[in-house]
Amino acid sequence: MSDEQERTQTTAEAAEATNATRNGARPGAIWPEATAVNADGELTFHGRTAAGLLDEFGSPLYLIDTDEVRDRARHFVRAAAQAFSNSTTHVSFAGKAFLSKEIVRIVTESGMYVDTCTMGEMRIALAAGVPGRRLVLHGNNKSDAEIALAVEQGFAKIVVDEPDEPARIAAIAHRLGKRARVMLRVTAGIHAGGHEYISTAHEDQKFGVPLVPAGTDAAVFGVLDHLDDVTPAASNARMAERRADAANATDTADAEKTRPGDHLGEGRELRYDVRYPYDLSHEEVGPTDRALAEAMTAVADGPALAVLKDIAARHEDLELVGIHSHIGSNIHDADAFIQAAKRMMLLRKTFYATDAITVPEVDLGGGYSVAYVPGEDSMDIDAELGRLAAAVHDVNRALGMPDPAVSFEPGRWIVAPAGVTLYRVGTVKPVHLADGTTRTYVSVDGGMSDNIRPALYGADYTALLANRRGSERTMLSRVCGMHCESGDIVVRNVQLPDDIRRGDVLAVPVTGAYGRTMASNYNQALIPAVVGVSEAGAHVMIRRQTIDDLLALDVSD
Ligand SMILES: Cc1ncc(COP(=O)(O)O)c(C=O)c1O
Repeated sequence: MSDEQERTQTTAEAAEATNATRNGARPGAIWPEATAVNADGELTFHGRTAAGLLDEFGSPLYLIDTDEVRDRARHFVRAAAQAFSNSTTHVSFAGKAFLSKEIVRIVTESGMYVDTCTMGEMRIALAAGVPGRRLVLHGNNKSDAEIALAVEQGFAKIVVDEPDEPARIAAIAHRLGKRARVMLRVTAGIHAGGHEYISTAHEDQKFGVPLVPAGTDAAVFGVLDHLDDVTPAASNARMAERRADAANATDTADAEKTRPGDHLGEGRELRYDVRYPYDLSHEEVGPTDRALAEAMTAVADGPALAVLKDIAARHEDLELVGIHSHIGSNIHDADAFIQAAKRMMLLRKTFYATDAITVPEVDLGGGYSVAYVPGEDSMDIDAELGRLAAAVHDVNRALGMPDPAVSFEPGRWIVAPAGVTLYRVGTVKPVHLADGTTRTYVSVDGGMSDNIRPALYGADYTALLANRRGSERTMLSRVCGMHCESGDIVVRNVQLPDDIRRGDVLAVPVTGAYGRTMASNYNQALIPAVVGVSEAGAHVMIRRQTIDDLLALDVSD
């Protein structure tokens, strides 16, 4: 949008501009579909005016359009099933994005599971009446109590995050007389979403277990982009421990052909099984086959495979459900997911090659982007999951593996565009800048305590005057909060009508994810209520905190 356009934009025009791309889960949507501007220039949600909602429920206020959440949840579940039409798909809603009992019911009724990662999230999901078999437990530092609750309730997956965890989960499951379903979170060396890919295969971060040993050259994975030349001889390769093989080498010498130079890593060698399923003794093994063998060897030597073996060895107490990868947040297309998925398929292939175990499910995590400001991209789920599905299928075909069940964990994509925060305007202060321009600081009655993302990540938002049409003329504005931090910014730069004044209502869209769940009591601010709006009306979903809530925690005399 040009400066000229920005200056002459009125509230209604701005809303219409965003409405033009707004339609349920369509890319680029920044307002819930049922947002409109009435004849008086007021912003409405399912026909309820912004000012009316603040009058009834107080300010500031988180709005969540529950119809929109339901539409988006169904959309994602359907898109995954259609893209992976020959596989089972599971979609879990990442509860860290936003959690309430009602949202848990809406997403599970829409076919989703729910991801939790703390006792609080687990208890809210269970309190919603959702059975454990629809829930997932994540966490890099799970307590025994969290693991025990997940095992008792029969959670669909407990995601193992470190090498010692299988033993802990197995012991707890054993004590409870249950078998726990576990998945292993793997760091595949792909990081996406606001950062460049990190090409080192060993990531310096707290989550998951590395796919390959530290210091492995990520170039070893290059073969995954050129699998067309892999011959059946390589895709049927089995990896054997050398010492074990030495004992029966003579018995099997005529059945399996071990080629010179195929000795890979300490204590291991790759064998081309010439009997199963075809006699390939006449075939030559090519350079791509060797490159694949090298990649499989790096994976076979990596920490993740060792943990998978440990889980498999504890099969009486643990059921290995799958492997998991989460690569980042707010990712616009499938490219990085495809790279991560290929590495996960390589791990699955390698585990089959070493232990003849086929991991049933691969979870590709969350991180699907939404647009926060007009003109920004959001991930086109239908198109991008289609590309991902094709890549997953191709890599498995080349590796001679059946496609796994595939699962996803979107959070932001489901709830962010369904949320709008409403604030009352307080101080309006023009600040003259060194370059001769003026920026007007428009203070609102919330800020970093209800939306930490601008302060934490420099996240961009936009805002509209929501209670009246406002002047035709606009001014460069910065919407800031009421907290004792100069970084307490809600919207860094936005054109607002130049007659904005105390008592007006501002609406900030796309606040449905990581707003309420990251809210704090900084400066003893009270966390706002969450109001659900839908065709059926408006109702309090999570009540506003009160001063009594704060004082109830302060128990000293
Ligand atoms: C393991 C895992 N899954 C899913 C998500 C959800 O990500 P998003 O809300 O960006 O889709 C996260 C976010 O941090 C995560 O850590």
